[in-house]
Amino acid sequence: MSKVNAGILGMGHAYPSGILTNADLEKMVDTSDEWITTRTGIKQRHKADADEYTSQFAVKAGKKALQCAQISPKDIDIIVCATTTPDQILPSTGCIIQRELGCENAAGMDLFAACSGFIYGITMVESMIRTGQIRYALVIGAEVLTKYVDYTDRSTCVLFGDGAGAAVLGPVPPDKGILATKIRSDGRYEEQLYAPGGGTRYGTTHETIEKRMHYFKMKGNELFKIAVRSMADISAEILEKAGVTIDDVDLVIPHQANQRITDAVAQRLGVPPEKVYSNIAYHGNTSSASIPIAMDECIEMGKIKDGTLVLITAFGGGVTWGASLIRF
Ligand code: UT7
Repeated sequence: MSKVNAGILGMGHAYPSGILTNADLEKMVDTSDEWITTRTGIKQRHKADADEYTSQFAVKAGKKALQCAQISPKDIDIIVCATTTPDQILPSTGCIIQRELGCENAAGMDLFAACSGFIYGITMVESMIRTGQIRYALVIGAEVLTKYVDYTDRSTCVLFGDGAGAAVLGPVPPDKGILATKIRSDGRYEEQLYAPGGGTRYGTTHETIEKRMHYFKMKGNELFKIAVRSMADISAEILEKAGVTIDDVDLVIPHQANQRITDAVAQRLGVPPEKVYSNIAYHGNTSSASIPIAMDECIEMGKIKDGTLVLITAFGGGVTWGASLIRF
């Protein structure tokens, strides 16, 4: 078989119609539009209703990605759902998506790497496609984070939103597709961003619920510094690995955690603001969904077209981080 790379053949995204604005949050906790805007860049975020759940948005995004790639659901070999907020503990959200999309020949699984999940997912399937083990993969970052947000904690509740972004990956010529990719983690920072309740360590009890242990907790300003350093360093590493410089890159799409993090990463990498995409103002932080949503928006806007060289980089709880360099 001739040499191939793994590339993105089509993308899609979806999010709930419900919107939570900064003005809404001002009525719920001691915060202000001014604080949220200047400290994070967020103006609004999409929020699922009580009866909406992760796989619904993943399926919508996945369907669009398949249509865009013009690939039949039956041709998908694996579905990787990167999520921190699965529909339930068992079975995996990946299996629910597999059923709903009619991907009858696919394996389905969840991948748990917080905000870096999409990059972890494409890194995993990249080598499977490149080595010929599989032909087509569907990687979806999907989250309903707002169900794990403590709306009495102003330090976290203003940040997170819901949505899903999907990519169909398959073989492309060797000068295109994923040119370099790398993922990392450091579990020493477990308690910088975590939700300890509800697992096998602290199973759900009245006490864990009263202590609000099932909600996200974050030490934001400590994470901020690690996030900037990790994303900038791993991006520089993969550029070097691919033998290109930052000037060769047409578009940088960082995980949308905070506009100030995005600005600081761009500054460290020496990228001008017009080459950096941001949608945090209207989506907030959607964790594993943030990069594929942003990429698909860029495709729709014509910022990504045939030949565009895109650098994506993410950082999240774990802590996890990663970067990929992709030629469309
Ligand atoms: O996606 C996964 C990765 N996520 C991250 O890496 C997140 C990284 N961290 C951040 O984005 C920022 O640290 C935050 C947006 C979470 C917080 O911004 P900050 O500039 O680091 O604020 P801070 O936590 O240092 O807090 C500054 C002040 C504190 O008040 P005092 O102690 O100075 O009186 C907070 O209590 O701001 C206060 N504060 C708020 N005030 C109004 C914290 N949250 C709020 C709020 N509204 N929502």
